[in-house]
Amino acid sequence: MLLENSLKKILIIDFGSQFTQLIARKVRELGVYCEIISHHKSNNIKLIDKNVSGLILSGGPLNVYQSKKVKFNKNLLNSNIPVLGICFGHQIISKELGGKVKQSKSREFGLAKVKKVKESILTKDFFTKNENNVWMSHADEVTRLPKDFKVIGKTNNAKLCIVENTKKKLFGIQFHPEVTHTNRGKIILRNFVFKICKIKRNWSSRDQKLKLIDQVKTQVGNSKVICALSGGVDSSVVAKLLSNAIGNRLTCIFVNTGLLRKDEEKQVVHTFKKRFKINLVYVNAEKQFLNKLKNISDPEKKRKIIGNLFIKIFENYAKKIKNVQFLAQGTLYPDLIESKSVTGSQTSKIKSHHNVGGLPKKMNLKLVEPLKYLFKDEVRKLGLELGLNKEIISRHPFPGPGLAIRMPGTITKEKIKILKEADHIFIDGLKKNNLYHKIWQAYAALLPVKTVGVMGDNRTYEYLCLLRAITSEDGMTADFFKFEKSFLQNISNQIVNNIRGINRVVYDVTSKPPSTIELE
Ligand code: XMP
Repeated sequence: MLLENSLKKILIIDFGSQFTQLIARKVRELGVYCEIISHHKSNNIKLIDKNVSGLILSGGPLNVYQSKKVKFNKNLLNSNIPVLGICFGHQIISKELGGKVKQSKSREFGLAKVKKVKESILTKDFFTKNENNVWMSHADEVTRLPKDFKVIGKTNNAKLCIVENTKKKLFGIQFHPEVTHTNRGKIILRNFVFKICKIKRNWSSRDQKLKLIDQVKTQVGNSKVICALSGGVDSSVVAKLLSNAIGNRLTCIFVNTGLLRKDEEKQVVHTFKKRFKINLVYVNAEKQFLNKLKNISDPEKKRKIIGNLFIKIFENYAKKIKNVQFLAQGTLYPDLIESKSVTGSQTSKIKSHHNVGGLPKKMNLKLVEPLKYLFKDEVRKLGLELGLNKEIISRHPFPGPGLAIRMPGTITKEKIKILKEADHIFIDGLKKNNLYHKIWQAYAALLPVKTVGVMGDNRTYEYLCLLRAITSEDGMTADFFKFEKSFLQNISNQIVNNIRGINRVVYDVTSKPPSTIELE
């Protein structure tokens, strides 16, 4: 039932909060293994085995009295395992044990001040001068506590904000300790995990690496594996891990679509073939992609053409490798959770298409997904542990359709060449000015408009280049990066002076929403 059964763990029961994954990340950052399961599955009492050292009940959009929608096994509260309820989780503990939950008179969204009422092991080192700023997001609140519960902290609107029943090791908090806006929220999680659940650190990159290599060896046996390598973080880490586990029984296929960043194909081939000695089939399909994309300007058509052609090429080459039984791909934990989330999101399906273009069904290959219990930051740490250099590990995300969606309108060889150079100048400028790692994603785009300029007494009529740089946590929302004027001026000069074909540079100052990160 649970994913991993040899490690002590914290089990997070998900009631659909947008922050559930953050709780898991924070627990793992503490060096402790944890898993998320949907509340629908909490009825399975087998969940509680000797390896579950504590339960965290997440927040969620439901009301605790919506009994048809809320599935929660009340027995979990009497299983002698410590429980921390967060927001909705706090409310459901109270409701199940005889307390009361009501709609708050005034809903609380955003910052609130919580004041200490009494000492508790849960809040040790959390308060300064008996108070702390916390992040609230709730419409309901606990209005009456169950028997034997005591109040640890209160806010103006939530009098029963932090509560405990020390005998039963049950704790509830109305605010969200997992979000960065809650001051020292991690201390609450740390106290719960180490002082209350008494679990020991069991989750480091090194342990993880050895364990994953072992798992891959067991799963794959003596078979051969193929892997679509894009040079991005996830597929690079998968390739290196597989190579460590099964050596030359792994073959990576790298398709150069011609829509990659400047010299990207050279870097990937150098790193994986020359440096790591990994079997790598390099497919130069630039011409094929360019032909298929000729005169196409509709963004969706571009994506479909690129995706389909990629699959076709990958399949052709994969067939040439005999006796392959497995396909490795870089599915991450958020993909896995999202596909099973309470909201029924299908995100993982979309992502796996990005990864390998829906290959598994067609090719009848079994999947190897060694990263499927990991978050992105864990994958990065694992990559470093495997010896991948920082340059690969901390690269900005790059979309599957590549430069095609950074070039609204039709795609030509000339435009690709211009765009590659402009992007290179911009990214190089970021690196030289120590800005690259402060930015979540940055790129240059070529707009399908020509404007008039003047250079050396001559009129020019050339393309418009757009620069985009954003900060973000996960790519779902984003803000534009605030550069110094001099930096933009310098990049603009370099681009216009060095690239024939661009005579004007603009900087995109929209956030997401309302814009998206990419242009198409
Ligand atoms: P948007 O433009 O939707 O992008 O705000 C969010 C993040 O997703 C990346 N992206 C893609 N990645 N295939 C991918 O592998 C795609 O088709 C694709 N479209 C957007 C984008 O670069 C950003 O990081």
